[in-house]
Amino acid sequence: MGKDVIIALDLDSSQKALAFLDRFTGQKPYVKIGMELFYAEGPAIVRQIKARGHKIFLDLKLHDIPNTVQRAMAVLSGLDVDMVNLHAAGTKAMMEAALAGLTRPDGSRPLLIAVTQLTSTSQQRMEQELLIQKPLDEVVMHYARCAAAAGLDGVVCSPLEAGRVHEGCGGSFLTVTPGVRFADGDAGDQVRVTTPARAKELGSDYIVVGRPIVAAPDPVAAYRRCLAEFVG
Ligand code: C5P
Repeated sequence: MGKDVIIALDLDSSQKALAFLDRFTGQKPYVKIGMELFYAEGPAIVRQIKARGHKIFLDLKLHDIPNTVQRAMAVLSGLDVDMVNLHAAGTKAMMEAALAGLTRPDGSRPLLIAVTQLTSTSQQRMEQELLIQKPLDEVVMHYARCAAAAGLDGVVCSPLEAGRVHEGCGGSFLTVTPGVRFADGDAGDQVRVTTPARAKELGSDYIVVGRPIVAAPDPVAAYRRCLAEFVG
């Protein structure tokens, strides 16, 4: 399975996103479109970027009743994206419905990845507000195993958790990992950061990189550096 670098297109307009991608002459990076760009521009931006030949991870983190998620996933699958995600907290029934919705008449479908506990959720808040009285890392691993049991393809997690996820859910269960920074870069608001080279050693399958590429003085050079470190 091919390791790849996914650029988080955390931008608020089509104009900015397309101008950014114009800089990559001769290369078609895998990109992540999140809520900001999708809610600003709608499915048209997904079609435009797809038409340019990029692979797309559509990061909309669905979480609703199974029937609604199934129908929404069928629409997203029709956009011909390569990877989508949802919250594992929606339960196995929701995850199974999502897979059914994503599967196209020819049997193909985008990869389906689960978010376990958001990295912004602390142990204390999880206990006090979500009433989950377990260690956070145990909760993350339990959600990952539920996602695997439901037939999903992987989880979003820290590169530091990639090894444990592979141990618990199988080597082919994908780990899609944000929180990546160059050794000489600025961590910004990410707390536990890992270099692309270290993420490779730890077994990440895909790294998701935003600001270290998008906000770099030379984004193309930064992307190539990520590829060289992570893919080799
Ligand atoms: O700019 P930066 O490299 O921090 O961007 C990381 C991307 O990954 C952002 O789009 C962020 O929303 C996403 N992400 C994350 N941590 C998670 C899940 C998603 O940073 N646990």
